[in-house]
Amino acid sequence: MWDYSEKVKEHFLHPRNVGQIDNPDAVAEVGNITCGDALKLMLKIDDRQRIVEAKFQTFGCASAIASSSALTEMIKGMTVEEASKLTNDDIADFLEGLPEAKMHCSVMGMEALQKAIAAYRGEKFELETEG
Ligand code: FES
Repeated sequence: MWDYSEKVKEHFLHPRNVGQIDNPDAVAEVGNITCGDALKLMLKIDDRQRIVEAKFQTFGCASAIASSSALTEMIKGMTVEEASKLTNDDIADFLEGLPEAKMHCSVMGMEALQKAIAAYRGEKFELETEG
């Protein structure tokens, strides 16, 4: 059994922002090559480049659900520029840590965010990590 923080357990049992956004301004789907899990992230961005809504759907483990829930909570209210600097370590820190073997689950969240921002900016997204 993994040693999960209380915050991971709480976000896994009560994930925030699960679902879809009608007419999102940015959408990204990523898969994790380590485990085969997947994550879809949708963002609503206002005309001042601020993320006003974020929702996700995942076929992922408990850590992926908690990481996605944390991610969407963290980025709501951020500008696109601020969100683009978010790392998977920030997600893990928000969750008061993830087991080392589960860090890749937070990477999936970071990659979905980067891909969504790239799509919003009309840029090409290239993976920096390999799971
Ligand atoms: Fe697949 Fe966590 S084991 S995302």
